[in-house]
Amino acid sequence: MSTTTFTNPRAKHNFVGHSCSITGVGSYVPERILTNADLEKMVETSDEWITTRTGIKERRLAAANEFTSDLAAKAAERAMAMAGVTAAQIDLIILATITPDMPFPSTACLVQQKLGAHRAAAFDIEAACSGFVYALDIGARFVESGAHETVLIVGAEKMSSVVDWTDRNTCVLFGDGAGAAVLRHRPGARGLLTATLGSDGSKAGLLELPGGGSACPATAESVAGRRHFLRMDGKETFKNAVQAMVSASNEVLQRCGVSIAEVRCVIPHQANLRILNAVGERLGAVDEQVFVNVARYGNTSAASVGIALDEAVRGGRIRRGDLVLLVVFGAGLTWGAALLEW
Ligand SMILES: CC(C)(COP(=O)(O)OP(=O)(O)OC[C@H]1O[C@@H](n2cnc3c(N)ncnc32)[C@H](O)[C@@H]1OP(=O)(O)O)[C@@H](O)C(=O)NCCC(=O)NCCS
Repeated sequence: MSTTTFTNPRAKHNFVGHSCSITGVGSYVPERILTNADLEKMVETSDEWITTRTGIKERRLAAANEFTSDLAAKAAERAMAMAGVTAAQIDLIILATITPDMPFPSTACLVQQKLGAHRAAAFDIEAACSGFVYALDIGARFVESGAHETVLIVGAEKMSSVVDWTDRNTCVLFGDGAGAAVLRHRPGARGLLTATLGSDGSKAGLLELPGGGSACPATAESVAGRRHFLRMDGKETFKNAVQAMVSASNEVLQRCGVSIAEVRCVIPHQANLRILNAVGERLGAVDEQVFVNVARYGNTSAASVGIALDEAVRGGRIRRGDLVLLVVFGAGLTWGAALLEW
């Protein structure tokens, strides 16, 4: 168990509910691997450019008949197995995605059916790459208040369906996958200590998928104009990502009176190795503290932190009682951080 002492921010607000712990994690990535060498055959790029600018070596691509809900259900089943809960025990499913199977019904409802979680309410949230921490903070409220016993959160993306495979600026960055967690009260455990969420809609244009919504419904022109693919101002996004992730991390650490040295594992959104290094450095974390798997999956958006958390737990990087910092950033702009006692 951790010997760290900290302030419980919940107590300041006369919080009287239960604590909320992550009692199981799971992830799933599709089988097909797209390497940098494969990309060299598709656009004018090189393994050397991609590796030095992003740290990404390969990413996973879902099959044509494999959708976001399929990836999500597989990750969820693994998280449920670790938590020892059955589908019938799930009260609520919160699914974070920017690549839903379709605009409606929600992908969460499709996952509810695939899991056979017949008692569960289900809804999607959209906070782009920040989705997993948003889902965690929302889901924890239901457990803490006692409204629900078992909440399943999932971040799942089929980014390959919205990437413009002719745009070398973006197509090298993203991949498909899903990460899931089961949230429950674990007696005696402190679990989620605090979380912070933020957004800045004035910078919405930095990273967007303009077509397909009410502002730009699908037309022959919108398709020809490639408006149904994501677009990004990489340089500005980079700067904002580092700033927001550092300040969100510092906020949750300060709230709990915890120093970065006391955190066993920092799990940042896996967008780009240079972003991860810059965030780690500014937080004063040593390399061993910062979990990195971006080389194998690229940026899987809402799935990224869930996949990384699963790998960190199963790989023995995180043990019961350790302090874990999750920190995310994405389109919106959105950001967030969560500090947990595992
Ligand atoms: C996208 C990103 C890797 C680009 O790196 P960068 O160092 O900023 O590179 P630049 O934008 O300055 O581009 C440099 C050159 O490389 C070129 N380039 C872009 N993508 C390329 C690729 N895949 N292969 C080869 N050259 C490429 C550009 O066209 C540009 O050429 P030019 O100078 O002739 O115009 C980087 O900005 C980034 O990671 N941004 C954040 C992206 C992100 O994480 N988004 C999600 C947040 S959730």
